[in-house]
Amino acid sequence: MHLVVISGSVYGTADLVADEAAQRCRAAGLEVSRIKPASVDALLEAAPDIILGCVSTTGMGELPDSFVPFFTELQDRFPLFTGKHFAVIGLGDSAYGDTFCQGGEQLRELLLELQALESLPMLRLDASETVSPELDAEPWLDQFIESLTHSA
Ligand SMILES: Cc1cc2nc3c(=O)[nH]c(=O)nc-3n(C[C@H](O)[C@H](O)[C@H](O)COP(=O)(O)O)c2cc1C
Repeated sequence: MHLVVISGSVYGTADLVADEAAQRCRAAGLEVSRIKPASVDALLEAAPDIILGCVSTTGMGELPDSFVPFFTELQDRFPLFTGKHFAVIGLGDSAYGDTFCQGGEQLRELLLELQALESLPMLRLDASETVSPELDAEPWLDQFIESLTHSA
C-alpha cells in the first residue's frame, strides 16, 4: 500500500499538517511519499494506492493559489483513480461561514469524480477552535491508518 501525501497551503499550516501526517503514517509502517509542491506528473509516477490531501481555504472558499495549477491540471488530464483510495484534511475557519473548508471540499469532489474511493470522511480543522491543527489531526490520522491496515 503506497500512500502519497500532497498539500496546498497559503501560510504553511496545511503543509505542516501534511508533513506530520506523512511522518505518522510512516511510523505506522506504511510506505509513504510526500510530494511537495503537488504535481500531477509526480503523483502519477508515484502510482499511489491512497492519496491523502491536506488543503486550506483562502479568499471566499477558494483553493490556495499555489495549489490551483495542480488542481486545474488534474481536471484537464482527468486521470482515473478507479479502485484507489483517498482522504482529505481540510483546513479553514468556521468564521467564514458557508465557505468553511471549501478548499478541501473542492479536492474531495474532484477525487470522487476521478473515481477514487473516500476511505474516511473529511477532517475539518477549524482555525477558530485550535492553535495546533497538527496535534488535533492525530486521532483522525490514527483512524485513517486503521482503515488502510484493514483494507490492505
Ligand atoms: C484571506 C483569508 C481568507 C480565508 N478564507 C477562508 C474561507 O473562505 N473559508 C475557510 O474555511 N477558511 C478561510 N480562511 C482560513 C484559513 O483557511 C485557515 O486559517 C487555514 O488554517 C490556513 O491554512 P494555511 O496556513 O495552510 O493556508 C481564510 C484565511 C485568510 C487569511
